[in-house]
Amino acid sequence: MGWHEWTRGAEVEPSLYAADFANLGAQVSTLLRAGARTFHFDVGDGHFVEPITIGPIVLKDVAPLVHAAGGALDCHLMVDNPERHFRQIAEAGGDSVTFHVEVTDDVARTSALARAHGLEVGVALNPGTPVEVAAEASAGADLVLCMSIHPGYSGQELMPEAFDRIRALRRLLPDKLIQVDGGIDAENIRAVREAGANLFVAGSAVFSDGDLPQPYLRLLRALA
Ligand code: DX5
Ligand code: ZN
Repeated sequence: MGWHEWTRGAEVEPSLYAADFANLGAQVSTLLRAGARTFHFDVGDGHFVEPITIGPIVLKDVAPLVHAAGGALDCHLMVDNPERHFRQIAEAGGDSVTFHVEVTDDVARTSALARAHGLEVGVALNPGTPVEVAAEASAGADLVLCMSIHPGYSGQELMPEAFDRIRALRRLLPDKLIQVDGGIDAENIRAVREAGANLFVAGSAVFSDGDLPQPYLRLLRALA
């Protein structure tokens, strides 16, 4: 199994960063029953990004639930030295790691290390990173992640300039999975798809906008 099986056309990925951690298992189960299969899991180290977020010890508890339903855990590593974490992420049940091009000298080597642990690979770019740099770096990756916010926190607004960046990436990488992360909601998700994205990460739009699973279903309807 890999990204091409997990992606059913356009995939809305709940970002667990915005979940209610006192009810994490119940929320994930509700979303699985509603049809969600790919869950975005944000690891932040307090260095590459300001906050310390969640990591392998949370991942290992949620992964069996997701895997039992045939789903996958898409781990966004907002960390320096991402390769130090691949083993723990894989052992905790992560299925894919996306690391940032800004902290990786040798993307091919870092990707190979991830694949050696059985992980799929994504390459992420921050809003200030030229799309050409990321397009070249992601040549051997399964997906490219275009940040539509400065990474760190859930609940920010999508930067309007992200649309041109997604369009440019789509032109440079006609066949690549393009994931967008940050500020996606029911009002803008369709425009994000029209710009060229396939994978839509949504944190607060899923977890902070009413009772689950309705906000997730609203995003699916907005894409339909
Ligand atoms: C923050 C994370 C995002 C975050 C998105 O930098 O990478 O995945 O959870 O949250 P929203 O959808 O609320 O912007
Ligand atoms: Zn993320």
